[in-house]
Amino acid sequence: MAIEDKIKELLNKREEAMLGGGQKRIDSQHKKGKYTARERIDALLDEGSFEEFDMFVKHRCHDFGMEKKSFLSDGVVTGYGTIDGRLVYVFSQDFTVFGGSLSETFANKICKIQDMAMKNGAPVIGINDSGGARIQEGVRSLAGYAEIFERNILASGVVPQISAIFGPCAGGAVYSPALTDFTIMSRENSYMFVTGPKVVKTVTGETVTVDELGGPNVHGGKSGVAHFVAENEEEGILLIRKLLDYIPQNNLEEPPLTECDDPIDRMEESLNYFIPENTNKPYEVKDIIYSTVDYGEFLEVHQNYAKNMVVGFAKYNGTSVGIVANQPNFLAGVLDIESSRKAARFVRFCDAFNIPIITFVDVPGFMPGTKQEHSGIILNGAKLMYAFGEATVPKITITLRKSYGGAHDVMSSKQLRGDLNYAWPSAEIAVMGPKGAIEILEGRNISKIEDEEEKAKYIEEKESEYKEMFANPYRAASYGYIDDIIEPRNTRFRIIRGLQMLTTKKVVNPPKKHGNIPL
Ligand code: HXC
Repeated sequence: MAIEDKIKELLNKREEAMLGGGQKRIDSQHKKGKYTARERIDALLDEGSFEEFDMFVKHRCHDFGMEKKSFLSDGVVTGYGTIDGRLVYVFSQDFTVFGGSLSETFANKICKIQDMAMKNGAPVIGINDSGGARIQEGVRSLAGYAEIFERNILASGVVPQISAIFGPCAGGAVYSPALTDFTIMSRENSYMFVTGPKVVKTVTGETVTVDELGGPNVHGGKSGVAHFVAENEEEGILLIRKLLDYIPQNNLEEPPLTECDDPIDRMEESLNYFIPENTNKPYEVKDIIYSTVDYGEFLEVHQNYAKNMVVGFAKYNGTSVGIVANQPNFLAGVLDIESSRKAARFVRFCDAFNIPIITFVDVPGFMPGTKQEHSGIILNGAKLMYAFGEATVPKITITLRKSYGGAHDVMSSKQLRGDLNYAWPSAEIAVMGPKGAIEILEGRNISKIEDEEEKAKYIEEKESEYKEMFANPYRAASYGYIDDIIEPRNTRFRIIRGLQMLTTKKVVNPPKKHGNIPL
């Protein structure tokens, strides 16, 4: 065959591969409002940067007449490219080929890019749109999944891993996204569950729709499986690009430093008057975040899950940080099981990838009650304590208002190796709030007073004495637990100075195989 013909053959094969499962199935994908695997990659990566691998791979299955049915690429598009000029590896499942279901060769293709990402220290982005294990391949498909899972596990904390869910993701297939750092679901067409509605009906008798079982509202709000819910695929893809802007390529690198012309000494006068005088009055902690970070830009993670805790990424003078903040606007910012778990996972991500952590504290304590205790608030609260305590990245804590009891210790306190612990003058750092403290300390005396008016006056006096003594930042500062009490309007400046001072921080944890975080 002449070289011209050989090249023509190559181009024809490429063209065939580009069509996946064929034009009819592509049209059907579009009709559902979904993009194809290749269109998604094109939208995600810098224009023209995609280099594809394994386009000519076909499955090797001979059961169920499969030898007569095969498609080039075998249902997943894999390769590498760049996002804002930085290397990433990507796989994108192609629903037009056997419903994007996973065969042995399909799994091998994903494993290949996972291995390359580990060798070269770059993020892996997986776009999921699949009917799960390819039924015709039987146990080889299950083995293929496990090969991917093992690589997800080994890559955890070494290279960032991001999963987008733009279609079905069911059965054991959900465990690959669950093992990655961030999962993004599109509001249209995506769902995730271990067992589908039919099995649920058979086993538990429950009637439930796909959406009720594992749609984006469930995973973005109730289970916390999804870190982000995007309105559609376009928004989901932009989110991935934005997220990577805060994250280094691997655990040995620093996050990208961006140019910043938002002045470091920008004062926010309004912050001096921000905390309400009534200490029980809620406020929006995100307003404090917006007004101190560069250009007011904050990428919130888990926006609708455990809203009593706010976590997300921002920059201070171009340096990426992870922000953790109690949210007085929701359940008074109390620490409960979900908020502890949410923040613990975020803190561990930041620590694994050298991203400093800024913590804003206004926490009345742990959520009391049988529901919390019986479901393990002890273990879950300990997760957050463990995460903050083991983190060796720069840690700056700003106590805004309440910091009571065990929750005070947990929220990146000095003794959990907080590097800089500042407090606003409105801070109240004590074992518990005045009301609870006086009930316990003065209970006997209070019960002896018969006249109600006298009783109320006595309680008020004692509470006010207690407030004077303990409900302020000066006690903690007098012991050096708080490094300085700062004017709220200076918060941005003090954080940036702190981050600059901490750029050379080196702390190494004791050598061990791994710790035993209370799971
Ligand atoms: C082989 C599959 C397939 C699968 C879909 N297809 N799922 N082929 N193995 N798992 C094929 C269909 O035969 C069809 O082929 C094409 O993909 C599109 O599927 P449709 O059903 O027409 O599409 P739709 O109506 O959109 O429904 C999508 C779906 C449904 C909800 C995903 O296909 C479905 O329920 N599939 C089975 C899901 C499942 O139970 N998977 C196994 C889970 S267990 P044609 O040729 O007609 O286009 C599992 C274990 C993993 O995954 C364990 C890992 C540890």
